[in-house]
Amino acid sequence: MNSSDWEKALEKVAHEVSSENFSAALTEEDLESLRIRFLGRKAPLTELLKSIKELSLEERRLLAPKAQQIKSQLEAQIEARALEIEKLRFDAELKTQSLDLTLPPLLPLRGRSHPLTKMQDQMAHILGLMGFSWAEGPLIEDDEHNFTALNIPEHHSARDMQDTFYVEGGQVLRTHTSPVQIRAMRKQKPPLRIICPGRVFRHEAVDATHSAAFHQVEGLYVDQNVTFADLKGTLEEFLKALFGPQIKVRFRPSYFPFTEPSAEVDLSCLFCSGTGLASDGRPCGICKKTGFIEILGAGMVHPNVFKAVGYNPEIWSGFAFGIGIERVAMLKWRIKDIRNFYSNDIRFLAQFEDTELPLLA
Ligand code: DAH
Repeated sequence: MNSSDWEKALEKVAHEVSSENFSAALTEEDLESLRIRFLGRKAPLTELLKSIKELSLEERRLLAPKAQQIKSQLEAQIEARALEIEKLRFDAELKTQSLDLTLPPLLPLRGRSHPLTKMQDQMAHILGLMGFSWAEGPLIEDDEHNFTALNIPEHHSARDMQDTFYVEGGQVLRTHTSPVQIRAMRKQKPPLRIICPGRVFRHEAVDATHSAAFHQVEGLYVDQNVTFADLKGTLEEFLKALFGPQIKVRFRPSYFPFTEPSAEVDLSCLFCSGTGLASDGRPCGICKKTGFIEILGAGMVHPNVFKAVGYNPEIWSGFAFGIGIERVAMLKWRIKDIRNFYSNDIRFLAQFEDTELPLLA
């Protein structure tokens, strides 16, 4: 192609571009076919730009900027129309969709304490008001603290009361929070009033009411002339603050190696209000018609435990108790399956609002 044909062809393109009505493109597809027509690989302008190398250097210097200018102008027009089409579509959408501006905004999710932490805090709060202070111990314990010092000698059948996880080197995952009693008494001189909340482990099959890892709160009170009446009064106040003043508390003789005498403590059934009968008149499935449910173990500290920590049992006396946090939470909040606590389902966890901590009567 010689330069005058080339220039004519370019003028033809320029004419076509200037007589094209870009506003007639109403959709992105319309605009795309315009782009292909004017700027595509087979578009006249593209062909012209390709064949420019056939012209002499001088001709190119003269004509190339003209062609480039048409190309840039085309690109700008297409770009501008694309924005207009976008706006047209948005305006049309606004006309067909109704916006409810009175809808409340979505609030960001807030973190909250786990229900077991809440229950533990509630229990610690009540006992704190009674003068108990918080103590902790390790989760991996030695045999001496978990058993021997608690008056459970080696080969004693009481060791079978709790199925134990053994760790290399003869240590155990603590089976209860009672070893913290030993640690606290060895560290502090009497009198002493502590609670030890924390995680414990049992080699158990997991089901709706059993977990291999769960939580307890241990209580220990040592002073001169502490009696079983102090134990009864303390636990009754504690349980009423926790479950409500209407509940009844019952003590049954029991056995624990580290206390003598020992008791198991029952609560009047929260599900049938202690009547033993469900609302349909059938036997209550929770308390098995007895009207009571077992809630904790307790007793007067055994003299052998005092001896193991170097307290003189002739001078000091005390009581101790141990209560399961999951058990309390399940009864209070009517949770049927203990595994809910550990499955991290936000729909379960979010149900427990922060409740006001109870006060003593
Ligand atoms: N340690 C016991 C258990 O896990 C619970 C217990 C019972 C703790 C009686 C005590 C107590 O301090 O006096 O089964």
